[in-house]
This record gives sequence, C-alpha cells and structure tokens, in this order.
Amino acid sequence: MRIEPQLRLNNGVLMDQLGFGFYKVPAPDAQDLASTALDAGYRHLDTAAMYGNEAGVGRAIGGLGPFTSTSDVGGSGEQHPRLSRGDLFVTTKVWNDDHGYDATLRAFDSSMSNLGLEYLDLYLIHWPCPERDLYRETWRALETLYAEGRVRAIGVSNFQARHLDRLLASADVVPAVNQIELHPWLQQRELRLKHDALGIRTEAWSPLGRGQVLADPVLVAMAADYGRTPAQVILRWHIQHGNVVIPKASSEARIRENHRIFDFHLSSESMAAIDALDRDQRTGSHPDSVN
Ligand SMILES: NC(=O)c1ccc[n+]([C@@H]2O[C@H](COP(=O)([O-])OP(=O)(O)OC[C@H]3O[C@@H](n4cnc5c(N)ncnc54)[C@H](OP(=O)(O)O)[C@@H]3O)[C@@H](O)[C@H]2O)c1
Repeated sequence: MRIEPQLRLNNGVLMDQLGFGFYKVPAPDAQDLASTALDAGYRHLDTAAMYGNEAGVGRAIGGLGPFTSTSDVGGSGEQHPRLSRGDLFVTTKVWNDDHGYDATLRAFDSSMSNLGLEYLDLYLIHWPCPERDLYRETWRALETLYAEGRVRAIGVSNFQARHLDRLLASADVVPAVNQIELHPWLQQRELRLKHDALGIRTEAWSPLGRGQVLADPVLVAMAADYGRTPAQVILRWHIQHGNVVIPKASSEARIRENHRIFDFHLSSESMAAIDALDRDQRTGSHPDSVN
C-alpha cells in the first residue's frame, strides 16, 4: 500500500510528494541504494545525467525495456510482484552542456538508454544557465518530448522568477515543477508564491540543507518534543507546506527514518517556529553563478 501522498501536477499527472535524491551517490552504489529506497517504500526517484548514476537507478527498477508486475526490481534476482512501472515516478534532468534543441533531444535519448525506460515521468532543465541563453530552445525540446508522449511531465530546476517569466513568454507548456534549493534556512517565499500563482509545483532540493540544518537548536529541541528526529521534523514541515521533497541518505536506517514522516503532524505553532528560521542561506550554488 502506498503511504506517501501524491500531488497533482498542472497536467493532471500525480507525483509522489516524497522521493529519494541521487546527487553524490557514487555510480557503483546507486543500484543498491535505489533498491533499499524502494524496499523502504519510496516510489519516486530523482536522478540527473550529471550525477552519473542513471544506469544504477535503472538497474534497480529493472528497467531494461517494458517491465511488468513480475519484473525483477532490486537487481538481486528477486521478484517484486507488487511493483509495476506505473507505481514509480522517475525524474532525470538535462545537463548544462546539453542546452539547445538538438542537444537536448540527444541527451534525453542517452538518459533513457541509461535508465532503460520506455517513458520518463518528469524531465527537468537542470539549471537555466542564463549566460548561455539557450533555455527557451531547451524547453522547446522538452515540449517536443512531451507531445510525443515520451515523458509524462516537464519542468525546470533552479529557475528564478525572471527565468520563469522569460520562458513563459515563448512557451506552449507551463512547467509542471520548479525544483529549487529549499529548506528552513532558505525558504524562497516569493518564488513559492509565484509558483502557486502559475500552477507550478515547488520541489525542494537539499530539503535538509545538505544535513547542515539538522543541528539547528530550534529543530533539535522541537524534534525532542515530538519524539522524532530533526530530519523527520524538517521533512514534515516541507510536506505540510505542500513541497515535494527528495532527501538523499546513504544508510538504510536514514533512508527509512526519512520515510517515516506520515504518522505525525506539526502544530501550527511549530510550523510558524520553523518558518521563522529563514536566513536566506544557501548550501548549494546560486543559479546566477552556474553556466
Ligand atoms: N536540481 C538541482 O540542482 C539539485 C541540486 C542538489 C540536489 N538536488 C537533488 O536533491 C537531492 C537531495 O539534496 P542533497 O543530497 O544535496 O541534500 P539533503 O537531502 O538536504 O541532505 C543530504 C545530507 O543529509 C544527510 N542526511 C540525510 N538524512 C539524514 C538523517 N536522517 N539524519 C542525519 N543526516 C541525514 C546525508 O548524509 P548521508 O548521505 O551520509 O546519509 C547527506 O549528507 C539530491 O540528492 C538531488 O536528487 C538537486
């Protein structure tokens, strides 16, 4: 049974609100970690061409070709009769070097071959790369892939308000998602409001602030009060705000811990206390500096 909630995207597609992120997962570990995540109940996996681990993710989901409810999921030879392709939500992203219409179409083929999938759930432009000024061409390629039914939803990542405005001035399809750095120390309120106005889902990358936010004393104390861990409290805060979250973790214990967030609720006072922790502090790159 699916525990984690699903959010409806602006084209009607359902996306699991909790996923597992693969940034900095070494390629040799990706298959095992993906299998562990699937065993723990995650159904949404977030990778990228740049992460170099699409093939491992693909092996874990038994993706080589169309797979059915009797596919080998987990790569261990075991059958997972309960899991079918339709249960999974797989995201990957076109990397900065592949901006432009033709290059993006080629990059998509390469990612799909790595993943071994016949269709993708969500394809994202990884960074706008404003100095290259090609993201509108790249978006046109995503629109082509979407029209051809090769991907169920298309979106962007690391787009600021002005990038969204410029994209929308020439786009036929409104992005379903903008995946941005977002956690208690970087809450991106204005951008989230803009997403809401445009019908774009907010997806939080580095939802735990790369682990740095876990030591925040307010969160540590709150976690003790709820009998939870700081990671669970932060992820629960995201869930209650309606953000999609994709925490990454390296051990089975943490992978399971981060999934156990649907059996408690933060009070409005606790939500407000976390809302007050915003300090506009990034743990990753600023979109203006990535080209
Ligand atoms: N679109 C983009 O540009 C972009 C950029 C960055 C990330 N992302 C996506 O977002 C995903 C998540 O971001 P992220 O990996 O940067 O950071 P994150 O998920 O916020 O934090 C991961 C860090 O937190 C630690 N951690 C996880 N669960 C924990 C727990 N329960 N207790 C203690 N420590 C815990 C992990 O340690 P261990 O690994 O040692 O367990 C790791 O060091 C990525 O994997 C990727 O899919 C996207």
